[in-house]
Order: sequence, then C-alpha cells, then structure tokens
Amino acid sequence: MAGVSSDFRAFPADPAAVARLGGLGLDYRVLSPDDREALAVWSGAEHRGFHHPRPTPETVEREVALLQERRVHGVYDPELGDGIPVGTVASWPTGLSVPGGRSVDGWAVSAVTVAPTHRRRGIARAMMQAELANAVTAGAAVAMLTATEATLYGRYGYAPAARAATLEIDRRRVEWAGAEVPGLVRFVTDAAGFRRSAGQIVRRQVARTPGEIDRWPALVDRVLGLDDPDGESARATRVARYDDARGQAHGFVSYRITRDGMGAGVVEFDFLAAASDEAEAALWRFLLEQDFVSTVRARLRSVDEPLRWLLVDQRAITTTVGDHLWLRILDPAAALEARRYEGPGSLVLELDDPLGHASGRYALEVSARGVAEVQRLDGGAQDASGASTPTGATAPTRRSKPAHGLRLGVDALAAMYLGDARASLLARAGRIEETGPGSLAVADRLFATNRAPRLSIWF
Ligand SMILES: CC(C)(COP(=O)(O)OP(=O)(O)OC[C@H]1O[C@@H](n2cnc3c(N)ncnc32)[C@H](O)[C@@H]1OP(=O)(O)O)[C@@H](O)C(=O)NCCC(=O)NCCS
Repeated sequence: MAGVSSDFRAFPADPAAVARLGGLGLDYRVLSPDDREALAVWSGAEHRGFHHPRPTPETVEREVALLQERRVHGVYDPELGDGIPVGTVASWPTGLSVPGGRSVDGWAVSAVTVAPTHRRRGIARAMMQAELANAVTAGAAVAMLTATEATLYGRYGYAPAARAATLEIDRRRVEWAGAEVPGLVRFVTDAAGFRRSAGQIVRRQVARTPGEIDRWPALVDRVLGLDDPDGESARATRVARYDDARGQAHGFVSYRITRDGMGAGVVEFDFLAAASDEAEAALWRFLLEQDFVSTVRARLRSVDEPLRWLLVDQRAITTTVGDHLWLRILDPAAALEARRYEGPGSLVLELDDPLGHASGRYALEVSARGVAEVQRLDGGAQDASGASTPTGATAPTRRSKPAHGLRLGVDALAAMYLGDARASLLARAGRIEETGPGSLAVADRLFATNRAPRLSIWF
C-alpha cells in the first residue's frame, strides 16, 4: 500500500460526521490505538451489534490487538453514561487484487453496527459517508466491504464487484475425472511450524485472484487454529496441505467434519488457499473422497470454479451464488490505471456520482499490451462526436474516429471494474448507456478477464 498514508489512524474524525451526529446529541470520535480499555468496550458493542454472544476475555484481547492496527470510530450517546458506543466502524488501508496480477490502493470498511436502540436516525449514513472521506484523505482509489444485507450500501455508490458461491457436493455421486497430480496431500500436525508457508501460499493466492484483499496475520493464525488452540473451533478443525512433487507446499485447507448422531459426516470448509491449480484440484479431491461422509459443503468459492470439470457427474454439485465483495470507486483515474485490459482500445467514461467523489469525464486509452492511461476530460472542448479534448492536451491533428463512450453511475463502474458484470449486461438492465455505437462491445472486450473475480474471506 505504497500510495496510502501511513498515519491513517492519526487524522481527525471527519468534521461533517462530527457535526451531523453532534446535531443528534451524539459524540463521534476516533479511538486511540493506545486506549485498550475503550477498544475492549467497543469490541463488546460490535459483538452486540452483530447479534453475537458476549465475547470472552480472550476474544476481546485478540480483537483489541487487531483493532490497534485499524482506524476505529465509535458513536457515543452521553445520555446513556455507560461509555458503550451506539455506533461502530473500523477501517484500514489495504491492497485489492485487480486483473493483471497487480493491486490497487483500497480502503476496507468493517464492523459497521448501530445499536438497535438508536437505529434509523442516520448514524450509519454519517459513519459511511465519513469512511468515504477517510478513504480519500488516506489516498485510496477505492473503498470496499462485505455486507450482511444487500440493501445497505448501494446508496453510497458501492456495488457488488465479486460474487461468491456456496457449493454443496453429494459425496456418493463423486467420481474423479481430473488428472492425477504428482504431489502429496498430508495433514498439518505442526500448525505453528506451517504458519510461514501458509502465509506465503495465501499471499500467492491473493496476488493471482482479482477481488481478493491483502490478509492480516491474525487471519492465518485463526484458520490454522493457532489463536485459540484449545478452543472448541480449533479442536474441530483439521488442516491438510498439498506438497508438489519437489515437496514444496502449494496449498492448504482448513476444514471440519460435523456429524449428526451416528450419521455420516458433513465436510465443511471456507478456507482453501492454493497457489496453483494443481494444489487446488488435489485438495478438492482429498475433501471429496473422504469415507463415511455424505456431503461436502464449501463456502466463499469462485463462481467459475473448475470443479465441475474435475468430476464425472456434474450434477453432484449444487451451487448457490450471492454478492460478496462490495466496491466503491473513489478515484476513477487511479483505479482504472491499476488494472490490465484486453487492449488495445479506448473509451470515454461519463461518470455520475451522487456523492460527488468520482463524477466527471474520463478518457481510457489502452495500449496493445493492455496498459491503460486515463485522462480527466472535464472542462475540455467537445468535438463533433461528443468526445472531449483533455484539458491542456494537444488536440490530434488528423481527423480522429468518433470516440466510443459510456454514460454510467459510479456503482456500475464498480460492478464491471474487476470483470464481474459485463458492460452490455449492465446496459440491458438500464445501468449503462452507450454514447456511440459499438461502445458496449468495446467495453466488454477491454474489461474481460480470464478469471472471475473472487473474494474468499469476510472482513
Ligand atoms: C444496518 C445498520 C448499520 C443501519 O444503521 P442505521 O443507523 O439504522 O442506518 P441509517 O439510519 O443511517 O440509515 C441509512 C439509510 O440506510 C437505510 N437502511 C438502514 N438499514 C437498512 C436495512 N437493514 N435495510 C435496508 N435499508 C436500510 C435507511 O433506510 C436509510 O436510507 P436513506 O438514508 O437512503 O433514506 C444497523 O441496522 C445495524 O447495525 N444492523 C445490524 C448489523 C449489520 O447488519 N451491520 C451491517 C454490517 S455490513
């Protein structure tokens, strides 16, 4: 995250949110990373907000350590006098993997809760708009989050940008059709010793998958059962790894098998990290070929998982797909230049952003190598085709072809940015208009990706 300010926890609370919430008699503030007590109380409020049980002291301890790495805001109602926030939100700068194996500077927003005693007074709106301002102050090109409900965040310019699939596989119908792999699946018996390799595998998976965000170390500790080794969840979890023919670990899965009475087990997992397709296939096979198991249930999987091509009977798999990563473009030029395209080609994007951050006209020029240059056109003179000349740029001397262009909302750009929704699909839904004939086809080609975007965690 080279481009993002390192003192992201230090700048003051957004004045607009302070004023708006102050008008409701509420106090909105940034918590100091050193105030462990306030962070512990905040953590309890967040658990309550998400309808989770009260956290144990050990859980609070772990969460405070994580929160110290984040920018944490609370909304307090002085009338209550108990020091427990009625609104919570935490955020941090993080990379988002984009097509082409690179990442864009992003701002992750998490832990958005408002106490049920204080709902629908505009507290969440004030906090969410402040997070967009914080992201801009920190220098992020995009903001992102995962959502409990799909109706919450469109109003702030976010859109679903990577979907997630839940796969349920009928174990009795599984017959492997994939190639034999040269390596070996083995149990991880020394989770602490595997920690470093696990971190590297996760980093490689994140880098090769558009839609993934950078991981924090505590997350890997949790999936390996290291954060609370004697806890119920860790004891129920098993970890298996795939080593290639040279003995190098290329993937691992953290899974559990649950049993209802004396019945066969159900394998469940939501964390299978693979740095290669070979490792991914090998781990799938290991999970699917367990005896005394009726079902394998995998969550947070890709919508273009190769799995069905690895089985003889594709109908063994039942797939449910839903929105998962929600993305908000804040700096269109930086965001568009960060990813790679199926070039060459050019497009003028006329962006409408009701909150103002990204509104404007942008010329996207993609080279044959798929590298983009973006120029902001606002204020430039318009030619007969409706295309603008960039402010300060020299007008082309030979007569140029009419520009291809799209008129769209900032949320539609987020939906197509990682390759999840094609421009032509969004146009069919009335979310995008082309400003010149053939523009949707150009956009479909430029933004196409060979791997569907995917985010494999909640945050
Ligand atoms: C979702 C939640 C944060 C909303 O807080 P809130 O302070 O009541 O929300 P606000 O009053 O600021 O509402 C802002 C807007 O969102 C809408 N909204 C709020 N909650 C909504 C919901 N559950 N479904 C649909 N719309 C909702 C409001 O109608 C309002 O719309 P408008 O301003 O465009 O007219 C709160 O209900 C909550 O904590 N829920 C449980 C935890 C959770 O799901 N958090 C979200 C984590 S991703």
